[in-house]
Amino acid sequence: MKTKLISIALFLFFGFQSFTQNEWIVPEKHVYTVNPTLETDFLMLGEELYIKYCQSCHGEEGHGDGKTLEKFDVDVCDFSIAKFQSQPDGVIFYKIKFGRSSMPNHSKKLPDDVDRWLLVNYIRTLTECDTITRYSKSIH
Ligand code: HEC
Repeated sequence: MKTKLISIALFLFFGFQSFTQNEWIVPEKHVYTVNPTLETDFLMLGEELYIKYCQSCHGEEGHGDGKTLEKFDVDVCDFSIAKFQSQPDGVIFYKIKFGRSSMPNHSKKLPDDVDRWLLVNYIRTLTECDTITRYSKSIH
């Protein structure tokens, strides 16, 4: 009985925490999806796609400082921070494909999965930290 109560308490505590942090839960089967491309594959193409579809919100170097984003009252993460980069490829791929709230769903705009994997590879290169902490917002 006591253990049951403790587990309920723990569940409520952590459940509430993830709720307040607005955590973006990615279904498990997507977390472990293997990136079929090599991390160095077609980085130029990945960059082109990024400039065309993502830069307006996520900013030139991925610090979350794009011009369009200024219109939205949302917290967008900085791709250069370790917490973002520590996410598996499958998670980043899923977030790009399906989006949520002001992050558009790209399953139609970018119908080819390979393009999204190339974007994942490109985002992996955006690790130069912004020394001005203005944009080092939390990730979800
Ligand atoms: C209209 C603005 C907009 C565009 C265009 C856009 N995003 Fe986003 N993106 C957002 C916002 C806002 C979030 C935060 C959403 C949230 O957490 O609810 C986000 C979140 C993300 C995340 C998840 C970050 C995390 O917390 O782990 C990734 C990855 C991402 N975007 C990649 C991309 C890529 C790649 C493109 C281009 C194909 C793109 N985005 C285009 C606005 C945009």
